[in-house]
Amino acid sequence: MKLNKKILKITVHLSPAAVDEMEMKDKNVVVVDVLRASTTIAAALKNGAKEIIPVSTVENAVKISGSLFGDVTLRAGERNAKMIEGFNLGNSPLEYTKEVVQGKSIIFMTTNGSIAILRGRHAKNLAVAGFVNISSVVEFLKTLREDFTIICAGKENNFCIEDTVCAGRIIKKLMRAIDEEVVLDDAGTTSLILDTYYGKQIGKMLKSCDHGRYLTEIGFADDLKLCGSIDAINVLPLFSGNVIKLTKSFPGNG
Ligand code: MLT
Repeated sequence: MKLNKKILKITVHLSPAAVDEMEMKDKNVVVVDVLRASTTIAAALKNGAKEIIPVSTVENAVKISGSLFGDVTLRAGERNAKMIEGFNLGNSPLEYTKEVVQGKSIIFMTTNGSIAILRGRHAKNLAVAGFVNISSVVEFLKTLREDFTIICAGKENNFCIEDTVCAGRIIKKLMRAIDEEVVLDDAGTTSLILDTYYGKQIGKMLKSCDHGRYLTEIGFADDLKLCGSIDAINVLPLFSGNVIKLTKSFPGNG
């Protein structure tokens, strides 16, 4: 007797522009912002931050941090990739050391990354992914074995190469790890093709993409090295109840 193979549907949004918050309700979502929000979130949580609270405006960041500001709560994020006046931290993952972030709640406002995460806020499961934690995210998806959507943070509501390549890499790694038949939309197929095109040259790709060139120009070349390091911070940040945390039960998050 021939058994029907399970089909896994993967949808990719190349930017959050067309993502309807309510459409993400009860879905499995992966948000990718390689440069640099995903990498920074992974670094902060790995170094002991209690939680990351993504917000969409500076006003919200100030309101939420309220009287706890500077004590157990830090304001972090960027505008044009630079630290916002009155904030404690910018968006360089290298700033988020143990000494600075351990035990802290971090209110996090970035141009593209926190917006993309908030678009997925009603998801059943939402994981934050970059090259630095790609294997953890793939392992999580492998365990779930359900349809999912990848939201690339992109750049100001447009496509960007680095997030698309990372989306393609997630899909490729997952396809190699499971037996299920995978059905992709056009954006998913494009991300796979782009990932194959760059192959092992992730570092080169990050140096030559629009945002990578801009970050280098303003002095963040070292961030690119970390953001392109596969599995350098192999944790699984999950968004739930308005905060991003590490799940203790997941291997690598301990
Ligand atoms: C963002 O979320 O827009 C980025 O992480 C920008 C940056 O590189 O700081």
